[in-house]
Amino acid sequence: MSDVRWGFLGAGWLATQATAAAVHSASGAALEAVAARDPARAAALQPRRAYDSYRAVVDDPDVDAIYISLANDAHLPWILAAVSAGKHVLCEKPLVLSAAQARQAYEAADAAGVLLVEAVWSRWHPRIRRIVDLATRGDLGEVTSYLGTFTFPMELSDNYRFSEASGGGALYDVGIYPLHVLLACLPDGCALDVIAVECERGGLGVDLTTKAAVTWTTGRGSVVASFDMPESQRLVLDGTEGRVRIDDDQAFTSWREPSRLVVVDHVEEFPAVDAYQVMFEQVSARIRGEDVWVVPGAVSVRVAEVVDAIRALSA
Ligand SMILES: NC(=O)c1ccc[n+]([C@@H]2O[C@H](COP(=O)([O-])OP(=O)(O)OC[C@H]3O[C@@H](n4cnc5c(N)ncnc54)[C@H](OP(=O)(O)O)[C@@H]3O)[C@@H](O)[C@H]2O)c1
Repeated sequence: MSDVRWGFLGAGWLATQATAAAVHSASGAALEAVAARDPARAAALQPRRAYDSYRAVVDDPDVDAIYISLANDAHLPWILAAVSAGKHVLCEKPLVLSAAQARQAYEAADAAGVLLVEAVWSRWHPRIRRIVDLATRGDLGEVTSYLGTFTFPMELSDNYRFSEASGGGALYDVGIYPLHVLLACLPDGCALDVIAVECERGGLGVDLTTKAAVTWTTGRGSVVASFDMPESQRLVLDGTEGRVRIDDDQAFTSWREPSRLVVVDHVEEFPAVDAYQVMFEQVSARIRGEDVWVVPGAVSVRVAEVVDAIRALSA
């Protein structure tokens, strides 16, 4: 079957450093069009066509699917524009800024009969897939505790990440990753309660650090997101039958390098992989109707609900 023809909205850091190259390398995908405010930046990604208007990509009849890597507050309006034009959508994390927006986005996609997927690239990494498989198959017993951290000292100061109105802040930017893994590891329908939040603010009101304590029927956990702490990404998940842990401090951003996972009493090795490329290959395959895994919309909605609960306690 023919390649899925992707149209990119935005040619910022991620599109330039990672995702355009991922589409060029992916099987079953082609970079048909890119739009950026500066069309030279769009053209530099080497699409078949470059535009200076996001709308032109959405309306391009030769584009099958839209990839959105705009600032976070622009995700919802462009998801709605793309699905109403009949395009499938892969949208960067955080998908949108609240659970209500997430439900609105999936309802619109369902009504249009198109696929909508949150581009949480680390969820396509085989090491993270393995953790989720171990937890959901019950190999670790009941999940009793979780620690997921993603912290680093943010050096940019004039970026949308420092604007509350643009959906900035550490929770939206990096807290999403450990939350996605935790929710994927818990049984469907398992309620997750946010019991305590510590929040340090800066910039234009955004959270520089958010620490959240959560509980579920069989356990408790902590998630830490920060732009203001030393670089560290930890993941430790305990079940009644054993522990999995990532000990290389790159739990969510392992990229094009081999990685390791400690599973109970042994180490599993994973070859180098570009999880962005895997993401585009699998979303493209799903668009073609193949039965492959993509991040489920239900998990994206649950993550947005937990983010809402954390933000309510940190207000
Ligand atoms: N950086 C990462 O490692 C990473 C990883 C995974 C996911 N993401 C997600 O990808 C998205 C973009 O991240 P990024 O790192 O690529 O950000 P970035 O370099 O700051 O790019 C922001 C994008 O927003 C667009 N934009 C449109 N109007 C804007 C305005 N008035 N002010 C600022 N930006 C405007 C820009 O579009 P133009 O190109 O048209 O100028 C640009 O493509 C975010 O949702 C982020 O959560 C980032």
